[in-house]
Amino acid sequence: MSKNRNDAVYWAIIGLLLLTIAGLVLKFVVLGRTGTAADGRAAILLEPSERAVVLNEMRQFLAGIQAMLEAADRGDAQAMAKLARPLGMAAAHDVPAGLAAKLPLEFKTLGHSVHGDFDRLAMDAEAMNDARLALRQLGETMKKCVACHAAYQIAPAPVR
Ligand code: HEC
Repeated sequence: MSKNRNDAVYWAIIGLLLLTIAGLVLKFVVLGRTGTAADGRAAILLEPSERAVVLNEMRQFLAGIQAMLEAADRGDAQAMAKLARPLGMAAAHDVPAGLAAKLPLEFKTLGHSVHGDFDRLAMDAEAMNDARLALRQLGETMKKCVACHAAYQIAPAPVR
């Protein structure tokens, strides 16, 4: 009798632990640290220094794409490859771990996918030397910039 009761207690503890772990995974891996912005987008709550890291990466995207468009206009696929490479996965490794935990899973997935696209564009442009193809790939990739900006905002965390 008391053995059964002990078993029930053990199972209850195991159940609670599993729930806690599931909750932590949901919070730190799936949801990140978010609220809702005034315009309805999800607002990711970051420290000012973390926000600066993300926005700095964004401006590198913008500057890289600007230069890639000029290269595309010259029909210079090799220059496009060179410009795309630093926007690839290599750049994603610079993100500090604490920051990654605050970003929602969907955000990280979209972000990684954009970096992956630039690696692919660089490889294809170098191998096929086709600036028009690279330009088309860039247009496709930029749908992800648009999609992410439509869904997310970054709010600086409140100063304490
Ligand atoms: C995974 C999500 C995501 C992707 C993908 C993404 N961005 Fe952003 N970007 C953001 C967020 C969030 C902000 C902050 C917007 C805000 O707070 O209103 C931002 C801001 C920016 C800014 C403003 C930077 C500043 O200093 O204020 C630029 C420029 C930018 N993004 C360009 C791009 C370009 C170009 C791409 C595609 C190559 C891109 N982004 C892809 C999420 C993303």
